[in-house]
Amino acid sequence: MTSILTLHRVTTLEELEPLYHIGADAFCDDPCLNWFYPGGRNHPEDFVVLWKNILRMEFFDKGRFILAATAQDPNNETHPGMVIGFAVWERDGVCEAARSWQGTSLSKRLKRFYLNLKIAYTFCLDTPHRSLSWSKLNHFQHELRTAKAGQPTETWYLGILAVSSKAQGQGVGKKLLQWGIDRSEEEGIPTTLVATDAGLRLYESTGFERTGWLFFDDKRQKQTIMRRNTQST
Ligand SMILES: CC(C)(COP(=O)(O)OP(=O)(O)OC[C@H]1O[C@@H](n2cnc3c(N)ncnc32)[C@H](O)[C@@H]1OP(=O)(O)O)[C@@H](O)C(=O)NCCC(=O)NCCS
Repeated sequence: MTSILTLHRVTTLEELEPLYHIGADAFCDDPCLNWFYPGGRNHPEDFVVLWKNILRMEFFDKGRFILAATAQDPNNETHPGMVIGFAVWERDGVCEAARSWQGTSLSKRLKRFYLNLKIAYTFCLDTPHRSLSWSKLNHFQHELRTAKAGQPTETWYLGILAVSSKAQGQGVGKKLLQWGIDRSEEEGIPTTLVATDAGLRLYESTGFERTGWLFFDDKRQKQTIMRRNTQST
C-alpha cells in the first residue's frame, strides 16, 4: 500500500528529535563525515550526538527552514505518521525578501550562544571527543565557507538533505529538493548546494550544474559545488 507523503516545517525542538536518527542513518557511510568524525563508525551513539548538535545549530541559526517529510498510512489517518527524511534550506542574501526569511530574535541568539558552549564541552571534554578530529572539521568548515562565498549573494542554499536508508529511492529526496527549487523559481534566484556523491544523480536530474569542487582529505576526496539557475538568472 502506498503511503501519503507530506512536508511540514519543523518549529520545535521536539519535532527536531526524529531527525537526529535520520541524519545519523543516512550519512553513516558518507566519506566526508567519516573523515572528520572517524570514531562515528565504531561509536554509533556518538554519531547521533553529532547529528543532534548539527541540527540544533541549524535550528537556532538565521534564515534556516527545516523541512521534514512524513509518510502516513492512508488507512490510519489518526496515526501521526513517521518522519522519513528532511532538508535544511537557507535563504541567503541581503535584500528585503531574504530578510523576511531570516528574522532572528534575541532569545534565539542567546540559545545559540548557550548551545555553542554545550557543544564545546561535549566535543572537547565529554565522551564524543573520542570520535571527532577538530583539525579536519576546521578544514572542512573553512572549505565550505569558501565554497559558499563563491555563490551568488541572493540564493536558496540546500544545507542538508537526508532520507532514511529504508525510505530511499521512493521520491522523498526529490520532493524535499523541489520545495527549495520552487522558492527559487518564485523569486527568480539560483538554488545552490554542495553535493555528496550520493546526491549527485538527483541534483543533475533536476537541472543543477557543477560550478566547482570542495576538496578534503588532502585533496584525495571531493564534493561537488552546484548551482541551478532559473530562467531569469
Ligand atoms: C541523496 C538522497 C537524499 C536521495 O534521496 P532519495 O529519496 O533516495 O531520492 P529520490 O528517491 O527522490 O530520487 C530522486 C531521483 O534521483 C535518482 N537517484 C537517487 N539516488 C540515486 C542513486 N544512489 N543512484 C542513482 N540514482 C539515484 C532516482 O532514480 C530518482 O530519479 P527519477 O525521479 O528520475 O527516478 C538520499 O539517498 C540520502 O539521504 N543519501 C545519504 C545522504 C546524502 O548524501 N545526502 C545528500 C547530501 S548533498
